Amino acid sequence: MRLQGGAGNQWECLMANEGKVKVIRSIQEMQSIARELRSKGERIGFVPTMGYLHRGHLNLIETARDKADKVVVSIFVNRIQFGPNEDFQRYPHDFDHDLAACEEAGVDYIFYPEEEEMYPKGYSTYINEEACSKRLCGISRPHHFRCVLTVVGKLFNIVQPDFAVFGQKDAQQAAVIKKMAADLHLSIEIIVNRTIREEDGLAMSSRNAYLTSRQREDAGVIYQALQKAKELVDSGIVNTDRVQAETSNILQSKRRLRVIYVEIVNPETMEPIKEIVSGKSLLAVAVWVDEVRLIDNILL
Ligand code: PAJ
Repeated sequence: MRLQGGAGNQWECLMANEGKVKVIRSIQEMQSIARELRSKGERIGFVPTMGYLHRGHLNLIETARDKADKVVVSIFVNRIQFGPNEDFQRYPHDFDHDLAACEEAGVDYIFYPEEEEMYPKGYSTYINEEACSKRLCGISRPHHFRCVLTVVGKLFNIVQPDFAVFGQKDAQQAAVIKKMAADLHLSIEIIVNRTIREEDGLAMSSRNAYLTSRQREDAGVIYQALQKAKELVDSGIVNTDRVQAETSNILQSKRRLRVIYVEIVNPETMEPIKEIVSGKSLLAVAVWVDEVRLIDNILL
């Protein structure tokens, strides 16, 4: 069914998809659906997102689809996890596209709350992890992980999943969420899927939409640098400084790129390591491509 005069708005799409993906806007309703599913013994798989879905997100949804009876995807651009000068205002949105993508991927519920639903006036409770989250991105984005954990913790309580799927693309985020789940005794399994990449190796990201064609071309060097580092390690080099320096040099060979960090760390704690141990060392990088901040990583 199509509504007249809606100019492709989200409600038109909601009507068109009625009976398939259900779009839930209220916390109370989502919680009552979750309670009912769980009481019937149905396994809930959950994929939290900020929308503008791409193949990286769809890969997480596929995993959830394989392992769950019901799949819930949340779409919520969590304003508080953006710093004051970051890209919240221009973060890309396309709910119609996301709805169609979820429909096609066999998602059962999209949890799509308004900001006031998640953070009503007077909201004042936050979840703070005090080790892993303070390193790497935690240095240049000091409140970021606190606000990611807060929203993910809230979403876990709303969706009540048996498991949730995250991407290795945001390796530190996944590690911090695993730590929260362990420290707070959450009975939610945290699954981390591999990074999905574009043809030239650039990690898929909603933020890639900001890149001009020239910036996009230069951004391709990020994966080349990670691969070069892996080659060095595979050839027997275990010295962290040497591999980090080589990686930085490759990144800095592009005029538009500025390195924020290049670090080899323990993949669980994000603590720096001195000597690379194969399979237990994560090379994580963050760069500015002009004014666009991108991150990526590779297990060495
Ligand atoms: P968002 O950037 O939308 O990412 C949602 C999930 O998709 C995260 O787990 C992220 O790691 C994963 N993802 C993104 N790009 C990927 C890629 N190329 N390959 C594999 N997985 C990828 O991360 C967030 O949203 C937010 O911080 C959130 C957890 C939703 C909290 O607001």
